[in-house]
Amino acid sequence: MKTAITEMFGIRHPIIQGGMHFVGFAELASAVSNAGGLGIITGLTQKTPELLAREIARCRDMTDKPFGVNLSFLPSVNPRPYPEYIAAIVEGGIKIVETAGRNPEQYLPPLKRAGIKIIHKCTSVRHSLKAERIGCDAVSVDGFECGGHPGEDDVPNMILLPRAADELTIPFVASGGMADGRSLVAALALGAAGMNMGTRFIATKEAPVHDNVKQAIVAASELDTRLIMRALRNTERVLKNKGVERLLEIERAKGAAVKFADIEEHVSNVYPRILLGGEMDAGAWSCGMVAGLIHDIPRVSELIERIMAEAERLIRGHLQGLLGDRTAAKVA
Ligand SMILES: Cc1cc2nc3c(=O)[nH]c(=O)nc-3n(C[C@H](O)[C@H](O)[C@H](O)COP(=O)(O)O)c2cc1C
Repeated sequence: MKTAITEMFGIRHPIIQGGMHFVGFAELASAVSNAGGLGIITGLTQKTPELLAREIARCRDMTDKPFGVNLSFLPSVNPRPYPEYIAAIVEGGIKIVETAGRNPEQYLPPLKRAGIKIIHKCTSVRHSLKAERIGCDAVSVDGFECGGHPGEDDVPNMILLPRAADELTIPFVASGGMADGRSLVAALALGAAGMNMGTRFIATKEAPVHDNVKQAIVAASELDTRLIMRALRNTERVLKNKGVERLLEIERAKGAAVKFADIEEHVSNVYPRILLGGEMDAGAWSCGMVAGLIHDIPRVSELIERIMAEAERLIRGHLQGLLGDRTAAKVA
């Protein structure tokens, strides 16, 4: 399939694996890129720019296909030395960067000078337009259903994607709630040039996370995510578990007066314990409502081939079939 996104990034299929904290290591990114999608290493999971440089080199040993790096600009307890992370990306020969979180404008010049294409992930039309204005090459439009940070507008993709299509000039992919060939065809129909998946890629053989995490996604339904940190205006969609229930009790008790410190033990430093250690009740970790559509743990290449085959069947068979035979209709 050829779209503005496959052309821009030099990939075979319009499928991107979004950056994911403690998931987006070289194993997953290279598997996605080898299967014809765009794999993305999560920059800030690497504790230092030197470690990121090493992860990029490791990924390059595992694939000769394009892959990218995610750089998230989110509120953080430990602010990172972004210019040094950017130097590691540029020196590592990366040609695609997924930015996310706050406005990345101040960090774009060195990336642009190195000929890097920027896809900015955001959750509203106004932020997408801003990304276009500051020179991003593409946008990943993250609907309310997404795992991770859906923003504060609560607009789901059925509305957000056609709104983005009406306003944007640069290409965009649909992100949030994407799982299969149906998602891809729907995203294309709504104006996107491809799709970005997070949660779906965690439940794959190559995702280097604890098996408990993959099983939890398979077991979860679309009703099993919760929104946390709403009062802090840093909303995150996470999978419910005992740690999250305790966190929500604190949020309910404190109401609008809740401070980050009140819930910190349930959100800080829990990713390695959950994703690598498999301690499923340790606290909050991002997960999308799309868990309800995930029933297996395939290899990444099987998943991507299945998506593309289903998309083709839907377009050539089902959708075309709904229109009936044009020639016959004319003759009649
Ligand atoms: C476990 C997990 C960790 C994530 N970490 C990040 C991150 O560090 N930076 C980022 O930009 N997005 C992050 N995301 C968001 C994903 O890149 C993607 O936008 C989102 O998962 C799409 O929604 P979906 O899960 O419904 O596919 C994360 C998502 C998950 C599920």
